[in-house]
Amino acid sequence: MAVMLSFDPTPVDRCVCHNVTFAELLRIHRETGADLAELQRRTGCGTGCGMCVPYIRVALATGRERLPVMLEPGGRDAE
Ligand code: FES
Repeated sequence: MAVMLSFDPTPVDRCVCHNVTFAELLRIHRETGADLAELQRRTGCGTGCGMCVPYIRVALATGRERLPVMLEPGGRDAE
């Protein structure tokens, strides 16, 4: 019997600490023009461990709701 495993190459889609998706942050950004600081104030995103901040910056710059794991903050994608 074959077992199908799925692999999502773009697994990062939210601030885990505050359970705020990048989709929601992008919606707020589009509707209000909120920058990162304003998004942090409104949702708390990026104010916990801070690991999501580089991802939020990329999401805001690219409009992408799902991102690959980055090896370097704001830098290269995982290979
Ligand atoms: S994952 Fe966003 S602050 Fe920890």
